[in-house]
Amino acid sequence: MSAQVISGTEISKQIQAELKDEVAQLKTRGVAPGLATILVGEDEASKVYVGQKLKTCDRLGITSFHHKLPPDTKEPDLLKLVDQLNKDPKVHGILCQLPLPKGLNADKILLAISPDKDVDGFHLLNMGKLLSKKNMKEIEEEKMYLPCTPHGIIQLLKRTNIPMSGAEAVVVGRSNIVGKPVALLLMAENATVTICHTGTRDMGEVTRRADILIAAIGKPKVITAEMVKDGVVVIDVGVNRLPEGLCGDVDFNAVKEKAKAITPVPGGVGPMTIAMLMVNTVKATRKLSGVK
Ligand SMILES: NC(=O)c1ccc[n+]([C@@H]2O[C@H](COP(=O)([O-])OP(=O)(O)OC[C@H]3O[C@@H](n4cnc5c(N)ncnc54)[C@H](OP(=O)(O)O)[C@@H]3O)[C@@H](O)[C@H]2O)c1
Repeated sequence: MSAQVISGTEISKQIQAELKDEVAQLKTRGVAPGLATILVGEDEASKVYVGQKLKTCDRLGITSFHHKLPPDTKEPDLLKLVDQLNKDPKVHGILCQLPLPKGLNADKILLAISPDKDVDGFHLLNMGKLLSKKNMKEIEEEKMYLPCTPHGIIQLLKRTNIPMSGAEAVVVGRSNIVGKPVALLLMAENATVTICHTGTRDMGEVTRRADILIAAIGKPKVITAEMVKDGVVVIDVGVNRLPEGLCGDVDFNAVKEKAKAITPVPGGVGPMTIAMLMVNTVKATRKLSGVK
Protein backbone atom coordinates (compact mmCIF):
# COMPACT_ATOMS: atom_id res chain seq x y z
CA MET A 1 0.00 0.00 0.00
CA SER A 2 1.26 3.47 -0.81
CA ALA A 3 -0.26 6.36 1.05
CA GLN A 4 -2.43 9.22 -0.09
CA VAL A 5 -0.16 12.25 0.07
CA ILE A 6 -2.13 15.04 1.76
CA SER A 7 -1.33 18.31 0.02
CA GLY A 8 -1.31 21.17 2.50
CA THR A 9 -0.55 23.43 -0.43
CA GLU A 10 -3.83 22.51 -2.16
CA ILE A 11 -5.96 22.61 0.99
CA SER A 12 -4.48 25.97 1.97
CA LYS A 13 -5.37 27.29 -1.49
CA GLN A 14 -9.02 26.29 -0.89
CA ILE A 15 -9.00 28.10 2.46
CA GLN A 16 -7.36 31.16 0.91
CA ALA A 17 -9.97 31.27 -1.86
CA GLU A 18 -12.72 31.27 0.80
CA LEU A 19 -10.92 34.02 2.71
CA LYS A 20 -10.35 36.17 -0.36
CA ASP A 21 -14.12 36.41 -0.83
CA GLU A 22 -14.60 37.21 2.87
CA VAL A 23 -11.97 39.96 2.73
CA ALA A 24 -13.59 41.46 -0.37
CA GLN A 25 -17.00 41.45 1.38
CA LEU A 26 -15.55 43.12 4.48
CA LYS A 27 -14.03 45.81 2.29
CA THR A 28 -17.38 46.56 0.64
CA ARG A 29 -18.62 47.23 4.17
CA GLY A 30 -15.80 49.71 4.78
CA VAL A 31 -13.52 47.43 6.82
CA ALA A 32 -10.03 46.59 5.53
CA PRO A 33 -8.38 43.72 7.46
CA GLY A 34 -4.86 44.63 8.58
CA LEU A 35 -2.01 42.45 9.88
CA ALA A 36 1.13 43.87 11.51
CA THR A 37 4.24 41.70 11.36
CA ILE A 38 7.34 42.24 13.48
CA LEU A 39 10.68 40.70 12.53
CA VAL A 40 13.60 41.31 14.85
CA GLY A 41 17.09 40.38 13.63
CA GLU A 42 18.43 38.48 10.68
CA ASP A 43 17.35 34.86 11.20
CA GLU A 44 17.15 33.47 7.65
CA ALA A 45 14.28 31.02 8.25
CA SER A 46 12.26 33.77 10.00
CA LYS A 47 12.78 36.08 7.03
CA VAL A 48 11.40 33.39 4.71
CA TYR A 49 8.38 32.73 6.98
CA VAL A 50 7.52 36.43 7.32
CA GLY A 51 8.00 36.93 3.56
CA GLN A 52 5.50 34.11 2.87
CA LYS A 53 3.00 35.65 5.30
CA LEU A 54 3.30 39.09 3.68
CA LYS A 55 2.85 37.61 0.19
CA THR A 56 -0.26 35.75 1.33
CA CYS A 57 -1.72 38.96 2.82
CA ASP A 58 -1.13 40.62 -0.52
CA ARG A 59 -2.87 37.82 -2.42
CA LEU A 60 -5.93 37.94 -0.16
CA GLY A 61 -6.24 41.73 -0.07
CA ILE A 62 -5.23 41.97 3.61
CA THR A 63 -3.22 45.13 4.34
CA SER A 64 0.14 44.31 5.91
CA PHE A 65 2.22 46.61 8.10
CA HIS A 66 5.72 45.18 8.29
CA HIS A 67 8.18 46.28 10.99
CA LYS A 68 11.77 45.12 10.55
CA LEU A 69 13.92 45.79 13.61
CA PRO A 70 17.68 45.37 14.09
CA PRO A 71 19.05 42.41 16.10
CA ASP A 72 20.20 44.71 18.94
CA THR A 73 16.66 46.05 19.51
CA LYS A 74 16.04 46.72 23.20
CA GLU A 75 13.03 45.26 24.97
CA PRO A 76 11.45 48.64 25.87
CA ASP A 77 11.55 49.68 22.20
CA LEU A 78 9.89 46.46 21.09
CA LEU A 79 7.26 46.80 23.82
CA LYS A 80 6.63 50.38 22.69
CA LEU A 81 6.02 49.21 19.12
CA VAL A 82 3.63 46.50 20.34
CA ASP A 83 1.77 49.13 22.37
CA GLN A 84 1.43 51.38 19.29
CA LEU A 85 0.13 48.48 17.22
CA ASN A 86 -2.30 47.50 19.99
CA LYS A 87 -3.78 51.01 19.75
CA ASP A 88 -3.75 51.32 15.94
CA PRO A 89 -7.31 50.83 14.60
CA LYS A 90 -6.00 49.84 11.14
CA VAL A 91 -4.18 46.85 12.70
CA HIS A 92 -6.43 43.90 13.57
CA GLY A 93 -3.75 41.27 14.09
CA ILE A 94 -0.18 41.41 15.41
CA LEU A 95 2.41 38.75 14.72
CA CYS A 96 5.84 38.84 16.31
CA GLN A 97 7.98 36.25 14.52
CA LEU A 98 9.79 33.83 16.85
CA PRO A 99 12.49 33.09 17.81
CA LEU A 100 13.58 36.50 19.05
CA PRO A 101 17.30 37.35 19.35
CA LYS A 102 19.00 36.72 22.71
CA GLY A 103 18.23 39.41 25.27
CA LEU A 104 14.56 39.69 24.30
CA ASN A 105 12.07 37.81 26.43
CA ALA A 106 9.54 36.25 24.04
CA ASP A 107 7.07 35.46 26.86
CA LYS A 108 7.01 39.12 27.89
CA ILE A 109 6.50 40.35 24.32
CA LEU A 110 3.73 37.84 23.59
CA LEU A 111 1.97 38.84 26.80
CA ALA A 112 2.11 42.51 25.75
CA ILE A 113 0.16 41.84 22.54
CA SER A 114 -3.53 42.59 23.04
CA PRO A 115 -5.37 39.22 23.36
CA ASP A 116 -7.89 40.62 20.83
CA LYS A 117 -5.08 41.05 18.25
CA ASP A 118 -3.21 37.84 19.15
CA VAL A 119 -3.62 36.12 15.78
CA ASP A 120 -0.88 33.60 16.61
CA GLY A 121 -2.98 32.40 19.55
CA PHE A 122 0.08 32.42 21.85
CA HIS A 123 -1.17 34.87 24.50
CA LEU A 124 -1.62 33.11 27.83
CA LEU A 125 -5.25 34.22 27.96
CA ASN A 126 -5.99 32.61 24.59
CA MET A 127 -4.02 29.47 25.49
CA GLY A 128 -5.95 29.31 28.77
CA LYS A 129 -9.26 29.65 26.92
CA LEU A 130 -8.33 26.72 24.71
CA LEU A 131 -7.42 24.65 27.77
CA SER A 132 -10.75 25.45 29.41
CA LYS A 133 -12.96 24.29 26.50
CA LYS A 134 -14.31 20.77 26.46
CA ASN A 135 -15.14 20.22 22.80
CA MET A 136 -15.10 21.81 19.36
CA LYS A 137 -18.63 23.21 19.78
CA GLU A 138 -17.50 25.20 22.83
CA ILE A 139 -14.33 26.31 21.01
CA GLU A 140 -16.30 27.50 17.97
CA GLU A 141 -18.86 29.33 20.11
CA GLU A 142 -16.09 31.30 21.83
CA LYS A 143 -14.80 32.50 18.39
CA MET A 144 -11.29 32.31 19.81
CA TYR A 145 -7.96 32.51 18.01
CA LEU A 146 -6.58 28.99 17.78
CA PRO A 147 -2.81 28.60 17.42
CA CYS A 148 -2.13 28.42 13.69
CA THR A 149 -0.12 25.22 13.25
CA PRO A 150 -2.34 23.03 15.48
CA HIS A 151 -5.48 24.49 13.88
CA GLY A 152 -3.97 23.87 10.44
CA ILE A 153 -3.37 20.22 11.35
CA ILE A 154 -7.02 19.78 12.40
CA GLN A 155 -8.16 21.39 9.15
CA LEU A 156 -5.91 19.04 7.14
CA LEU A 157 -7.52 16.05 8.84
CA LYS A 158 -11.08 17.42 8.50
CA ARG A 159 -10.76 18.40 4.87
CA THR A 160 -9.26 14.98 4.03
CA ASN A 161 -12.21 13.29 5.78
CA ILE A 162 -10.01 11.53 8.34
CA PRO A 163 -12.24 10.58 11.29
CA MET A 164 -10.90 11.91 14.59
CA SER A 165 -13.72 10.93 16.93
CA GLY A 166 -12.76 7.72 18.71
CA ALA A 167 -9.38 7.56 16.96
CA GLU A 168 -6.21 6.72 18.85
CA ALA A 169 -4.07 9.84 18.30
CA VAL A 170 -0.41 10.06 19.30
CA VAL A 171 1.42 13.39 19.37
CA VAL A 172 5.22 13.32 19.54
CA GLY A 173 6.37 16.62 21.05
CA ARG A 174 5.01 18.74 23.89
CA SER A 175 5.84 22.33 22.93
CA ASN A 176 3.43 25.16 23.69
CA ILE A 177 3.15 26.09 20.01
CA VAL A 178 2.49 22.65 18.50
CA GLY A 179 2.47 19.51 20.68
CA LYS A 180 0.33 20.59 23.61
CA PRO A 181 -2.29 22.63 21.70
CA VAL A 182 -2.71 20.02 18.94
CA ALA A 183 -3.26 17.39 21.65
CA LEU A 184 -5.98 19.61 23.17
CA LEU A 185 -7.67 20.11 19.80
CA LEU A 186 -7.58 16.39 19.00
CA MET A 187 -9.11 15.72 22.41
CA ALA A 188 -11.80 18.32 21.66
CA GLU A 189 -12.47 16.32 18.47
CA ASN A 190 -13.04 13.25 20.69
CA ALA A 191 -9.80 11.46 19.86
CA THR A 192 -8.02 9.48 22.57
CA VAL A 193 -4.71 11.30 22.84
CA THR A 194 -1.27 10.25 24.07
CA ILE A 195 1.71 12.63 24.08
CA CYS A 196 5.31 11.40 23.72
CA HIS A 197 8.51 13.32 24.51
CA THR A 198 12.13 12.65 25.43
CA GLY A 199 11.02 11.02 28.68
CA THR A 200 8.85 8.42 26.91
CA ARG A 201 10.22 4.94 27.69
CA ASP A 202 9.41 2.97 24.56
CA MET A 203 8.19 5.41 21.95
CA GLY A 204 7.68 2.82 19.22
CA GLU A 205 5.31 0.89 21.46
CA VAL A 206 3.16 4.01 21.83
CA THR A 207 3.36 5.28 18.23
CA ARG A 208 2.42 1.84 16.84
CA ARG A 209 -0.97 2.24 18.54
CA ALA A 210 -1.71 5.43 16.60
CA ASP A 211 -4.50 5.74 14.04
CA ILE A 212 -3.36 9.36 13.72
CA LEU A 213 0.28 10.24 14.40
CA ILE A 214 1.45 13.85 14.73
CA ALA A 215 5.23 14.31 14.66
CA ALA A 216 6.33 17.70 16.09
CA ILE A 217 9.87 16.90 17.14
CA GLY A 218 12.31 19.04 15.15
CA LYS A 219 14.71 16.19 14.35
CA PRO A 220 15.00 14.54 10.94
CA LYS A 221 13.41 11.14 10.31
CA VAL A 222 12.88 10.15 13.97
CA ILE A 223 9.65 8.35 13.03
CA THR A 224 10.59 5.21 11.10
CA ALA A 225 8.44 2.59 9.36
CA GLU A 226 8.91 0.20 12.33
CA MET A 227 7.27 2.76 14.60
CA VAL A 228 3.90 2.90 12.78
CA LYS A 229 1.10 0.45 12.11
CA ASP A 230 -0.41 -0.26 8.71
CA GLY A 231 -3.09 2.25 7.77
CA VAL A 232 -1.89 5.08 10.03
CA VAL A 233 -2.48 8.73 9.09
CA VAL A 234 0.73 10.71 9.61
CA ILE A 235 1.01 14.49 9.95
CA ASP A 236 4.65 15.60 9.84
CA VAL A 237 5.13 19.04 11.39
CA GLY A 238 8.93 18.99 11.46
CA VAL A 239 11.01 21.32 9.32
CA ASN A 240 14.65 20.22 9.32
CA ARG A 241 17.27 21.77 7.07
CA LEU A 242 19.70 19.18 5.74
CA PRO A 243 22.43 19.78 3.11
CA GLU A 244 20.22 17.94 0.57
CA GLY A 245 17.17 20.12 1.40
CA LEU A 246 14.21 20.29 3.77
CA CYS A 247 12.94 17.17 5.49
CA GLY A 248 10.40 16.36 8.16
CA ASP A 249 10.52 14.36 11.40
CA VAL A 250 9.22 11.29 9.57
CA ASP A 251 11.11 8.94 7.25
CA PHE A 252 8.64 9.82 4.49
CA ASN A 253 9.60 7.26 1.81
CA ALA A 254 9.54 4.28 4.17
CA VAL A 255 6.51 5.33 6.24
CA LYS A 256 4.36 6.12 3.20
CA GLU A 257 4.47 2.43 2.24
CA LYS A 258 2.55 1.58 5.44
CA ALA A 259 0.44 4.69 5.92
CA LYS A 260 -3.09 5.36 4.66
CA ALA A 261 -2.29 9.07 4.31
CA ILE A 262 0.75 11.27 5.03
CA THR A 263 1.77 14.91 4.69
CA PRO A 264 4.94 15.83 2.79
CA VAL A 265 7.64 18.30 3.90
CA PRO A 266 7.59 20.85 2.39
CA GLY A 267 4.00 21.29 1.18
CA GLY A 268 2.17 19.78 4.15
CA VAL A 269 1.67 21.59 7.44
CA GLY A 270 3.67 24.74 6.53
CA PRO A 271 1.18 26.29 4.08
CA MET A 272 -1.67 25.46 6.49
CA THR A 273 -0.01 27.46 9.27
CA ILE A 274 -0.04 30.54 7.05
CA ALA A 275 -3.64 29.95 5.95
CA MET A 276 -4.79 29.72 9.57
CA LEU A 277 -2.97 32.95 10.40
CA MET A 278 -5.09 34.60 7.72
CA VAL A 279 -8.23 32.96 9.15
CA ASN A 280 -7.39 34.48 12.55
CA THR A 281 -6.71 37.89 11.00
CA VAL A 282 -10.14 37.94 9.35
CA LYS A 283 -11.69 36.73 12.63
CA ALA A 284 -9.88 39.53 14.51
CA THR A 285 -11.12 42.07 11.96
CA ARG A 286 -14.72 41.02 12.54
CA LYS A 287 -14.27 41.03 16.30
CA LEU A 288 -12.60 44.45 16.51
CA SER A 289 -14.74 46.20 13.88
CA GLY A 290 -18.00 44.69 15.09
CA VAL A 291 -18.89 43.66 11.51
CA LYS A 292 -20.45 40.18 11.65
N1 LIG B 1 5.40 23.79 9.47
C1 LIG B 1 5.10 24.68 10.40
O1 LIG B 1 4.28 25.56 10.20
C2 LIG B 1 5.75 24.58 11.73
C3 LIG B 1 5.29 25.35 12.79
C4 LIG B 1 5.89 25.18 14.03
C5 LIG B 1 6.93 24.29 14.18
N2 LIG B 1 7.37 23.60 13.09
C6 LIG B 1 8.45 22.62 13.20
O2 LIG B 1 8.00 21.54 14.02
C7 LIG B 1 9.08 21.02 14.77
C8 LIG B 1 8.73 21.07 16.23
O3 LIG B 1 8.57 22.39 16.63
P1 LIG B 1 8.40 22.83 18.15
O4 LIG B 1 8.43 24.29 18.22
O5 LIG B 1 7.24 22.09 18.72
O6 LIG B 1 9.79 22.24 18.76
P2 LIG B 1 10.35 22.17 20.23
O7 LIG B 1 9.80 23.29 21.06
O8 LIG B 1 11.81 22.01 20.12
O9 LIG B 1 9.71 20.82 20.81
C9 LIG B 1 10.12 19.57 20.32
C10 LIG B 1 9.46 18.50 21.13
O10 LIG B 1 9.89 17.24 20.61
C11 LIG B 1 10.33 16.41 21.68
N3 LIG B 1 11.44 15.58 21.21
C12 LIG B 1 12.64 15.97 20.71
N4 LIG B 1 13.38 14.89 20.36
C13 LIG B 1 12.64 13.81 20.66
C14 LIG B 1 12.85 12.42 20.53
N5 LIG B 1 13.98 11.92 20.01
N6 LIG B 1 11.86 11.60 20.95
C15 LIG B 1 10.71 12.07 21.47
N7 LIG B 1 10.45 13.40 21.59
C16 LIG B 1 11.40 14.25 21.20
C17 LIG B 1 10.79 17.36 22.77
O11 LIG B 1 10.67 16.68 23.99
P3 LIG B 1 11.06 17.33 25.42
O12 LIG B 1 9.93 18.26 25.73
O13 LIG B 1 11.14 16.18 26.32
O14 LIG B 1 12.36 18.06 25.19
C18 LIG B 1 9.82 18.51 22.61
O15 LIG B 1 8.66 18.34 23.38
C19 LIG B 1 10.30 21.85 14.35
O16 LIG B 1 10.96 21.21 13.30
C20 LIG B 1 9.70 23.15 13.86
O17 LIG B 1 10.52 23.80 12.91
C21 LIG B 1 6.79 23.71 11.89
